[in-house]
Amino acid sequence: MKKSSFWAAVFPAALGVLLLAGCGGPNRRIPNRIQVGVACYNQSDTFISELMDSFKHQLTAFEREGLTATVTLKDAAGLQRIQNDQVRELLDEGCNILCVNLVDRTDPSEIIDLARENDVSIIFFNREPVHEDMMQWSELYYVGADAQQSGVMQGELAAEAIHADPRIDRNRDGKIQYVVLEGEAGHQDAIIRTERVADTLKNEGIELEKLGSGVANWNRAQAENRMTQMIGQYHNQIELVLANNDDMALGAIDAYEKLNITETTCPVFFGIDGTSGGLQAVKEGKMAGTVYNDKEGQAGAMARLAAALVTGEGLEEISFDSERCIYLPYQKIDGENVQEFLGDKH
Ligand code: BGC
Ligand code: CA
Repeated sequence: MKKSSFWAAVFPAALGVLLLAGCGGPNRRIPNRIQVGVACYNQSDTFISELMDSFKHQLTAFEREGLTATVTLKDAAGLQRIQNDQVRELLDEGCNILCVNLVDRTDPSEIIDLARENDVSIIFFNREPVHEDMMQWSELYYVGADAQQSGVMQGELAAEAIHADPRIDRNRDGKIQYVVLEGEAGHQDAIIRTERVADTLKNEGIELEKLGSGVANWNRAQAENRMTQMIGQYHNQIELVLANNDDMALGAIDAYEKLNITETTCPVFFGIDGTSGGLQAVKEGKMAGTVYNDKEGQAGAMARLAAALVTGEGLEEISFDSERCIYLPYQKIDGENVQEFLGDKH
């Protein structure tokens, strides 16, 4: 090709690219806005709504001259089909990063396909897709926490309390009669927390007798119902209530309060999350302990990752625990340290 005809061919193409960039073509080339589309499995979930408040707040830290940050939040109210449609809408509305809290953590394929077609990265959070699904595309990330750790910590807290106070074994038979309130069947946190808390108690030398368990889907009212049924069945035999989250521990406490069961025949209650209601219950001594599910840390990691993926800046500074996954550590909370968590930061 002659020199002049080479430039005649290349120049218009190069100009086209520049014009496209100048007119706001593909988002990544002009990072003047971080437009986050968030799809939540259920906004009425206490932990998720507190996590979202923190996320919205922390994302504003990434705004600067010439860079805006907005969040559009959709609530699937527990239906995966609805969530798939909502992700489509978020992409149509121009979101350039997605944060997805799957309804069904085993069914992300449609959402992944939609994101890939639009070349928009996904940060999954709180409800962890299985490894094979995370491998479907290199633009998939996860922010959450290590479920094992929360179960172990809940077990350690309960063991400490039982060792410290022999009155917890109310019938003095050397065993702790307990019940479990479980989150949704199939959720990584429900399955693993339930297993690990009992293993840990046994490893700590506590003899256990499981009276029963009930699935209450992370929900306070459902937990109250399940607990009322179990009280009807086991009367004052229950010495310990292990709930997979704070809302369900609070629901169990509600059941005892509504039945006017006095403190001397009440079991001890343990939750997980450190929601504002959970922390308050620990402070008042109604709940013996909980495990902090670091919503500030998770929301902060999501905001940093979202900003980095959109702007292309700062990704190298983010450390991943395993490939494209970030797990924030849990912390034990009891009456001794609850005040630290009730401060401004949390
Ligand atoms: C939290 C629960 C919450 C659930 C929602 C868990 O990690 O501990 O409180 O309901 O996530 O997916
Ligand atoms: Ca006992």
